[in-house]
Amino acid sequence: MTRILRERRDGVLLLRLNRPDKLNAIDAAMLGELCAALEEARVDDAVRVVVLTGNERAFSAGADIDGFAGVTVEELATSRSDLPQWDTIRRFPKPLIAAVSGYVFGGGLELALACDIIVAAQGARFAAPEIKIGLIPGAGGTQLLARRFGRYRAMELVLTGREFSAEEAERWGLVNLIVPAEEYLERALELAQQIAQYPPAAVRAAKAAIVTGLEMPLDAALRFERELFLRIFATPEAQEAIQRFLERRRAKQRAE
Ligand code: COA
Repeated sequence: MTRILRERRDGVLLLRLNRPDKLNAIDAAMLGELCAALEEARVDDAVRVVVLTGNERAFSAGADIDGFAGVTVEELATSRSDLPQWDTIRRFPKPLIAAVSGYVFGGGLELALACDIIVAAQGARFAAPEIKIGLIPGAGGTQLLARRFGRYRAMELVLTGREFSAEEAERWGLVNLIVPAEEYLERALELAQQIAQYPPAAVRAAKAAIVTGLEMPLDAALRFERELFLRIFATPEAQEAIQRFLERRRAKQRAE
């Protein structure tokens, strides 16, 4: 079975995790297909924004625990390492919107954390439960939770593995908005369509400025932002949009 379903809606690519009988547990095949789809989307100019979703019952219940059976640490560290694939997801240069519902656990939470905007269905349940099976998050969970939501919140969530609600997630700034369960995907797609209509170079630069800038000291990040701003300022799309704005204003002033 195809682990990732693809659907194009104008400039938006919808990728759906598709392993419903296993609550979309992430196995090597799913991660491989997801990265292949993102690689194609990266170089396809017609794709402006990607929405990543699961189904109503589960965005994803995390790494495929069955896949851990019989794997050696050496294999996990070398031939079976999925670190490069998680890097591919985190470094995807176009906006990535997660539309989540049901279980957002473990690797599912890490996948959502690799996205730029998270839209959650009411009733979505989040957790970093790895500690309960004697593990820790291994695909960014400890770092992304700590850096975004602070050391104490990350400690509590990672050390207890407790579930948290969409409302808690929203309060902590982990999700952008909570919408009724029957609307979460449509709302995510609407957001994606809105972003997809803007000049792609500016959209990519905005994402790069925020994502890469956050990893730099402030002074360097501000210079990096300015560099991107200047690069975007020089594009015909920006120059034309500025001219259109000025002409509209002149026409309005003449009409008054
Ligand atoms: N890996 C592999 N299979 C998983 C899975 C995972 N992470 N999460 C769920 N599944 C499978 C179950 O084994 C079950 O398969 P089966 O029907 O063939 O037995 C199916 O998905 C449905 O899960 P089930 O446990 O019956 O659903 P539930 O509603 O009772 O419980 C959870 C849902 C999410 C609470 C529970 O499945 C769970 O704790 N999953 C593991 C979460 C986890 O620890 N993730 C981090 C992994 S490092």
